[in-house]
Amino acid sequence: MSLPSKIAVIGAGTMGNGIAQTFAANGVESVMIDIDQAAVDRGVASIGKSLDRFVSKEKITQAQRDEILGRVKPATSLDAVSGASIVIEAVSENVAVKSKVFAELDKLADPDAILASNTSSISITVLGAATARSDKVIGMHFMNPVPLMKLIEVIRGQDTSEATTKAVLAASEAIGKIPVAAEDYPGFISNRVLMPMINEAAYCLMEGVSTREGIDEIMKLGMNHPMGPLTLADFIGLDVCVNILDVLKDGLGDDKYRACPLMRRMVAAGHLGRKTGKGFYEYS
Ligand code: CAA
Repeated sequence: MSLPSKIAVIGAGTMGNGIAQTFAANGVESVMIDIDQAAVDRGVASIGKSLDRFVSKEKITQAQRDEILGRVKPATSLDAVSGASIVIEAVSENVAVKSKVFAELDKLADPDAILASNTSSISITVLGAATARSDKVIGMHFMNPVPLMKLIEVIRGQDTSEATTKAVLAASEAIGKIPVAAEDYPGFISNRVLMPMINEAAYCLMEGVSTREGIDEIMKLGMNHPMGPLTLADFIGLDVCVNILDVLKDGLGDDKYRACPLMRRMVAAGHLGRKTGKGFYEYS
């Protein structure tokens, strides 16, 4: 198992800061880059809060908390990727934005560095084509909340080499995660299976089959899911769910993935879930 000595994460949002925290907790210097100081400061504050929860549960000491936080190196320029053996992109889920970041990373990262994307649905092959090192481009799809969730879905693009895949599988295990490989088709495995369930739950609500609580309780108590599908949709973000369903529908060419009109209407109204304080449920 090979632990990289330095990694870089592009994007200090929920996923980016969770990824930086997880590597730092395993002794890896983790550069966390975002466009401005306020964004990286918010990312560092989130890591601090998450580590505080581990301290209060006596999973780590206060001194360990400070050491982990000390290994997170905030930066506001992509130049800071220099020296990182794995660069993980976790910017917004938009193909044009991600492709631009990959083209820039290709110029700035060390020639041997692996360029990974935390995308939940965008093609790794498309991102690889934005670089001159598509053999070193791969998907590392972490799950939210990153510090707690065991899985990393590892996605091989058309040109991803065996050496890149092996290095990423090994690094994932070295940080205590369980990597599972998938090929580069729309939604990979996680969202191709998860999103139709969430979508169907939204249709059930729209058609009055049950209440939001009823739908969630049935899946929690009957299927042992930790969160019901509507609660999970709020947690992920309804805009993200609708985007992924659109990628599935377009990429697989099947109308069975059409997003529920209720969910689309909620997105149009700005009711995106936890992050806006209102989705299928209300949050204070
Ligand atoms: N950092 C540190 N600790 C955290 C944390 C964080 N970010 N978030 C939660 N915790 C801790 C809590 O403090 C709590 O600790 P104790 O049990 O020791 O008290 C524990 O985790 C459980 O939290 P809660 O009691 O608040 O709530 P819970 O029991 O419902 O667990 C959960 C929370 C782990 C998130 C659980 O509900 C769960 O597993 N939900 C499903 C999550 C999921 O499906 N994630 C994948 C989403 S899809 C995705 O990410 C990718 C995509 O492409 C869309």
